Amino acid sequence: MIEKLNAIRRQAEKEMNKVASYGELNDLRVKYLGKKGELTAVLRGMGSLSPEERPQVGQAANQVRSDIEKILEVRGNELKEQQLQESLKKETIDITLPGQNIFIGRKHPITLVIDQIKEIFLGMGYTISEGPEIELDYYNFEALNIPPEHPARDMQDSFYISDEVLLRTHTSPVQVRTMEKTVPQVPVKIICPGKVYRRDDDATHSPMFHQVEGLVIDKGISMGDLKGTLLTFARQMFGEDRQIRLRPSYFPFTEPSAEVDISCMMCGGEGCRVCSHTGWLEILGSGMVHPRVLEMSGYNPEEVSGFAFGMGVERVALLKYGIDDMRLLFENDLRFLTQF
Ligand code: DAH
Repeated sequence: MIEKLNAIRRQAEKEMNKVASYGELNDLRVKYLGKKGELTAVLRGMGSLSPEERPQVGQAANQVRSDIEKILEVRGNELKEQQLQESLKKETIDITLPGQNIFIGRKHPITLVIDQIKEIFLGMGYTISEGPEIELDYYNFEALNIPPEHPARDMQDSFYISDEVLLRTHTSPVQVRTMEKTVPQVPVKIICPGKVYRRDDDATHSPMFHQVEGLVIDKGISMGDLKGTLLTFARQMFGEDRQIRLRPSYFPFTEPSAEVDISCMMCGGEGCRVCSHTGWLEILGSGMVHPRVLEMSGYNPEEVSGFAFGMGVERVALLKYGIDDMRLLFENDLRFLTQF
């Protein structure tokens, strides 16, 4: 019987060395060690042995079992490694293939321009102030010295929500809201970027657009401060060789008021199609804060003065990027947006 056991081991070893896959090796495990396997068959026959022979044969059988298990383990590891190598060989990656493009989002030109305006004024020591888009008539008009009969209040221009509440038509109400909070402190140096709403919709007007408001209040602020500030802004935004000019104008909340033009950056002031052959481009409205506006917000116009300005962001974006139709800014066509 011992001879038979040794023969089983030899046979098992031979067969196990021949198999080519882990699956086949497992079949051999069953064949030799399984419940219906060869080793079990031999052990079943032990009943017929004498009591002296039984322990010897038992020991030999255990030895053969553990030998076969060891062979199974070693061979199993070999086969697993071999299979891994083969599958890795099949999986080779061609690193010369082009990668898959990932679409990366980017900032809208309006956001780019607002960011840049903020950057320029932050550099001059301003802080950023924001106000609500749904605004009280008081802040949008009355506190800005716009009397009830003023044309800017016309129903044609404003989106009213109720008698007292409307979508703000400009960012100027943020001036008043800020002053109410800062009074009587000076200096005040803020810019207020945001959306504004008017009842227009044509090639050059959108019912929603963006403005950036500016306000400075301190002792002894003059029109010279306004001009110097806006010249600095114009040069940083549109190029170092820009000039500006102030044209007398009218806004209810400033006195005196001025419209500010920059020298055309397309023709350098020579006159071209973009500047309608004038050499100048209008970019914003401005002026010295009206004493009544200061007063309504709690500041004493005898002690402090200020300047303010307001610009349309879409207009700045059109000029800066040479875009000829404002509607492009609102259509969200990726062919347009991916150019920025
Ligand atoms: N709020 C004006 C508008 O929407 C723009 C403006 C003009 C703002 C003069 C100002 C200013 O602060 O001083 O047309």
